[in-house]
Amino acid sequence: MSYLSGLMDYKSRRSFTSFVACCLGAGTIFMIYFNYERDPVRWPAPVQVFKMAPSAAAPEEPKWEDPGPYHVAYPRNYKIIMDDTQVCRSINPFVILAVPVGTGNVAARNDIRRTWGGETLVLGKMVRTLFFLGLPGGEGAEQQQEKLRQENQQHHDLIQSDFKDTYRNLTIKTMMMLEWLAANCDQVSYVMKIDSDMLLHVNNLIKLLLDPKTAKENYMTGLVWWHSPVLRNPFNKFYMPWSVIAESEYPPYPLGMGYIMSLDLPRKILGVSHQIKPIYIEDAYLGMCLKRLGISPTDPPDKDMFLVDPRHPLSDCSLSKVVATTTTSTAQMLSYWSRSQQPDTKCK
Ligand SMILES: *[C@@H]1O[C@H](CO)[C@@H](O)[C@H](O)[C@H]1NC(C)=O
Repeated sequence: MSYLSGLMDYKSRRSFTSFVACCLGAGTIFMIYFNYERDPVRWPAPVQVFKMAPSAAAPEEPKWEDPGPYHVAYPRNYKIIMDDTQVCRSINPFVILAVPVGTGNVAARNDIRRTWGGETLVLGKMVRTLFFLGLPGGEGAEQQQEKLRQENQQHHDLIQSDFKDTYRNLTIKTMMMLEWLAANCDQVSYVMKIDSDMLLHVNNLIKLLLDPKTAKENYMTGLVWWHSPVLRNPFNKFYMPWSVIAESEYPPYPLGMGYIMSLDLPRKILGVSHQIKPIYIEDAYLGMCLKRLGISPTDPPDKDMFLVDPRHPLSDCSLSKVVATTTTSTAQMLSYWSRSQQPDTKCK
């Protein structure tokens, strides 16, 4: 610095100073802007943001439209290739817990099976958990597929479709889940879609669904985002260009981490989805479909039922009210689950 200032006369030093001030100012504005637009929503799957290679289109890729990076190929011709569950065949549960999960994430599936996903009869109501998957990719895909086959032979709870299982394909996974439900489950009352790193308090879920005030049709609830801005910062994980969505807000939708639907909705949503260009943000996309249907999501009766990034650890009181919450580790999920199995805690 002294070398620099020695070289500069007063005038150039002054302009140097204003140059620095200008840089700092611009930098600050830049930082504020970026922080301001940082994802308001936590997205659980591995981040693969700008790895989209448009040229990766395989020759058998559907010809109609190159989806580009911000909406997804959902040509509705993916096929279910693994599905031998008894759910909706010989068993008709009251509610299905539908868990989208990465193909390699057998640990998460096992944790869920031995905790909330293994609760099959709650308050006299039948509950079943199903995992939704796409195709494993990359090296070792065939071995992984073989492992999945064996896992399913043991548990009969995997539903797999033939699209590539990637973060940017989550909308396809959700739509495939809706297709499976619409095609197979006409005796089921509700579905709850829940991410694999969440804690689900099944007892509280059933209580909510049995509440006479809970609608039986056109019902979708969760942590409803009523005014979710369309993010225009290209460095944001949820960037969406004007060319795809011109509106400044998404229609209201429950956050994707965990939402409940009455079982009439999958068919209704599928019925309008072909009119709406699928974007890669699956929960916002469902909001767009709901809007087209003229259906509004419903706030849960208690705002403490669905928690995103709460202060951990949750108190006994919070835990006694929660339906679903994000967790930060497997150990935390297991600990919350075992605490949730204790008899009701009083809550002032
Ligand atoms: C989504 O799945 C389709 C079908 O398998 C695949 O062609 C496409 O590359 C996948 N997209 C991403 C972003 O992985």
